[in-house]
Amino acid sequence: MTCPHAAAAAVGTVRAYPFGDHVDLRLDPDYAELRATSPVARVRMPYGGDAWLLTRHADVKKASADPRLSMHAAADHDVPRAAPRALDSVGLMGMPPESHARLRRLVSRAFTARRVAALRPRITEITHDLVDAMVADGGPADLVSRLALPLPTAVICEMLGIPRTDQHVFRAFTEALMSASRFTEEQVAQAAEEYADYLRGYVAQRRAHPEDDLISALIEARDEGGRLSEDELLMLTGGMLVGGHETTANQLAGQALVLLDDRARYERLVADPGLIPATVEELLRYVPLWASVGPSRVATEDVEIGGVTIRAGEAVVYSLASANRDETVFDAPDDVVLDRAANPHIAFGQGPHFCLGAPLARAELQCALEALTGRLPGLRLARPAAELDWHRGMLVRGLVELPVTW
Ligand code: HEM
Repeated sequence: MTCPHAAAAAVGTVRAYPFGDHVDLRLDPDYAELRATSPVARVRMPYGGDAWLLTRHADVKKASADPRLSMHAAADHDVPRAAPRALDSVGLMGMPPESHARLRRLVSRAFTARRVAALRPRITEITHDLVDAMVADGGPADLVSRLALPLPTAVICEMLGIPRTDQHVFRAFTEALMSASRFTEEQVAQAAEEYADYLRGYVAQRRAHPEDDLISALIEARDEGGRLSEDELLMLTGGMLVGGHETTANQLAGQALVLLDDRARYERLVADPGLIPATVEELLRYVPLWASVGPSRVATEDVEIGGVTIRAGEAVVYSLASANRDETVFDAPDDVVLDRAANPHIAFGQGPHFCLGAPLARAELQCALEALTGRLPGLRLARPAAELDWHRGMLVRGLVELPVTW
């Protein structure tokens, strides 16, 4: 066991976090420096005090899979964190481990690789419909509002059985939830209340008129199997709706930008569509999801990570983006290598909270790149990458618009 004083000496001063205000795809150079010199570093978070920040691939992987570093212990507490609103205990991530495992089992069947493979023709159809409409209206067009956002929104709405026309309700909540500084805690709480009211009303309606969708299946599991409570039903539905579109939308727009900013990359995919699955993985590695870090964990007992003792009660955050650029794991980590041979990225996390929707997100990203490169070989940016606007004050990185032409 490492002496905590030695750890503190190695850690040095507490750095203010996040390091810079990068909202585009660039990573602050502090991450590379910390990986080399202080991979378990003390940082002052924007809310709730000081936390340990992990930046190396091995440490992030180990910490994510360690049940003693608990999201549940962080839920509903004023823990050091990146967001104004603490993770709450009703979300899947904040659940006690037993409820988390039971509920995950219940919904994970809808997201297996096999179920997603069966959905793929429909995902392809939705993608082509969106590209058709964009082409019919003529360029230049905004790829965010024409494809990146509506594609995952349509897919998750269809899976759950939520009408796409209701998207203003869950978009408003998603924006509030994903806010780092754009909204106050009260505004976020109010948006959460409105969202919960909407979901309650919608579930009541579906209960009266069941369909062949995931909400109806969960209602049946609740009413006939007694396998989840009403609150859990609402929480699962609400979480999947939010988690199922915003992340993929930002990732898709980011991936398209990286490919079009250096058109040789895009042309390579046009010439060799077989490279698309590997490209999607490489871009998942390269395009950061979070502006800073995701949800905090709290140590339920003393845990040693990277030679530093995290004391029981202390908070830990980690940078997936930094882990995915770890030079000890990836050759030329800051380069985009479309056919990278070994790519053990952890863009979907690791361990018990590994992204439930990873197979779905992968299918959507692949379908989108297939449709774009197949249908629009001449696609190019209509505005230089340096002049693009990015959302500010949010937890995730996202383009406001991605103007393209073809
Ligand atoms: C490219 C798109 C996506 C990325 C990069 C992504 C990333 C992640 C990451 C990193 C986590 C783990 C967070 C942590 O451990 O701190 C996670 C969890 C989760 N994701 Fe995704 N996600 C994506 C798309 C989706 C989609 C399409 C869904 C659809 C339902 C989804 C649903 C979830 C859920 C429910 C969890 C919580 C799992 C749990 O706590 O057991 N995600 N995601």
